[in-house]
Amino acid sequence: MAFEQKIKELLDKRGEARMGGGQKGIDKQHEQGKLTARERIALLLDEGSFEEFDMFVTHRCTNFDMQKKSYLGDGVVTGYGTINGRQVYVFAQDFTVLGGSLSETMALKICKVMDQAMKVGAPVIGLNDSGGARIQEGINALAGFAEIFERNILASGVVPQISAIFGPCAGGSVYSPALTDFIFMSKENSYMFLTGPKVVKTVTGEDVTVDKLGGAMVHATKSGVAHFVGETEEATLEMIRELVGYIPSNNFEEAPMMATGDPIDRLEDSLNTIIPENPNQAYDVKDVIHAIVDDGKFLEVHEKFAQNLVVGFARMGGMSVGVVANQPKAMAGVLDCNASRKGARFVRFCDAFNIPLVTLVDVPGFLPGTGQEYNGVINHGAKMLYAYGEATVPKVTVTLRKSYGGAHIVMSCKQLRSDINYAWPTAQIAVMGASGATEVLHGRALKEITDPEEKAKFIAEKEKEYNDLFANPYNAAKYGYIDDVIEPRNTRFRVIRALQALQTKKDSLPMKKHCNLPL
Ligand code: HXC
Repeated sequence: MAFEQKIKELLDKRGEARMGGGQKGIDKQHEQGKLTARERIALLLDEGSFEEFDMFVTHRCTNFDMQKKSYLGDGVVTGYGTINGRQVYVFAQDFTVLGGSLSETMALKICKVMDQAMKVGAPVIGLNDSGGARIQEGINALAGFAEIFERNILASGVVPQISAIFGPCAGGSVYSPALTDFIFMSKENSYMFLTGPKVVKTVTGEDVTVDKLGGAMVHATKSGVAHFVGETEEATLEMIRELVGYIPSNNFEEAPMMATGDPIDRLEDSLNTIIPENPNQAYDVKDVIHAIVDDGKFLEVHEKFAQNLVVGFARMGGMSVGVVANQPKAMAGVLDCNASRKGARFVRFCDAFNIPLVTLVDVPGFLPGTGQEYNGVINHGAKMLYAYGEATVPKVTVTLRKSYGGAHIVMSCKQLRSDINYAWPTAQIAVMGASGATEVLHGRALKEITDPEEKAKFIAEKEKEYNDLFANPYNAAKYGYIDDVIEPRNTRFRVIRALQALQTKKDSLPMKKHCNLPL
């Protein structure tokens, strides 16, 4: 064959591979408002940066005449490229090829990029759109999934792993995304569940739609499986690019610094008056976050799930930080099962990837009641406690207002090896609030007072006595549990200085095979 012909053959084969399952499949994808695997990769990566592997791989299955349904590249596009100049590995399932169903060879392709990402220390981003295990391949498809899962597990805490769901993700295939650090879902067309509506109907009799069972909003608000939801596929891919900017490429690196024109000593006068006079009145802790971080930019994780706790990424003085804050606007900022799970997972991600933690505390305690106890709030709360106590990254805590009881300890108190703990003058650090404490401490005396007026006077006196002692930061500061009481408007400067001072921090854990946190 002449040289030109050989080049033509190559180009033809490339062209064929780029068509995936063919124009009909591509058109169907577009009709459904979905992008193709290659279009998604093009939007995710810097223009022209994608280097593809394994375009010529085909499946090896001959069951059910499968040799007649063979496509170059099989059902997944894999390779590497850059996001804002930083290297990432990527795989995108191609629904136009047999519904993106996972074959043995697709698994090999995915494992190849995962293995290489581990060797070079770069994030892995998986774009999912698949009918699950390729039924015709039987055990080989299952084995392929298991190979991927094992790599997800080994890569956990070594390189960041990000999943996006842009179509079906059903059955056991949900477990690869579930093993990764962050799951993004596009609002339309994406769903995740272990068993589909038909099986649900057969087993439990429940009638449920795909969306209600495992749509993006369900996982963003109810289960917490999805960390981010994008309005469109394009918006979702842009959010992934944004997230990558906040995180390092692997566990040995720091997150990239980002120069800012926002002065580190910017005073934010609004913070001096943000805490309402009435301790039971709410305010939005996100106003505090926006006021203290660089350029007011905050990438919230789990925005719609367990809103009583706010977590997300920001930069302070150019450094990437993980922010954890109680939200008085939602359930008074109380900690419950879901908030604890959410907080613990986030804190552990930040610790695994060297991202300092900034914790803003305004917490009245843990949510009481059978609902919480039956759901294991003891275990879930312990996860958060464990995560903070285990974390060795720089930890800076600012108590804004309430910090009561077990929740005080959990929210990165000094004894959990928090490095610098500041408090605003409005802080109240105690075992519990004044009214609860008065009930407990003076219950007997209260029973003996029958006159309501006299009773109210007695309660007010006792509450005042309690508040005088504990409704301030100075009692904790007296013992050194609070390093300084700071003017709220100066919070940005003080936290950045603390983070700068802690940049060379080294701390460790005792030698062990692995921890046994209360899962
Ligand atoms: C082989 C599959 C397939 C699969 C879809 N296809 N899923 N082929 N194995 N798992 C093929 C279809 O036969 C069809 O081929 C093409 O992909 C497009 O599928 P459609 O059904 O036409 O598309 P749509 O109507 O959009 O429906 C999509 C779907 C549906 C909802 C995903 O295809 C479906 O229910 N698939 C099966 C889902 C499933 O039960 N998977 C197994 C889950 S269990 P043609 O040739 O007609 O274009 C699992 C175990 C993993 O994955 C265990 C890991 C531990």
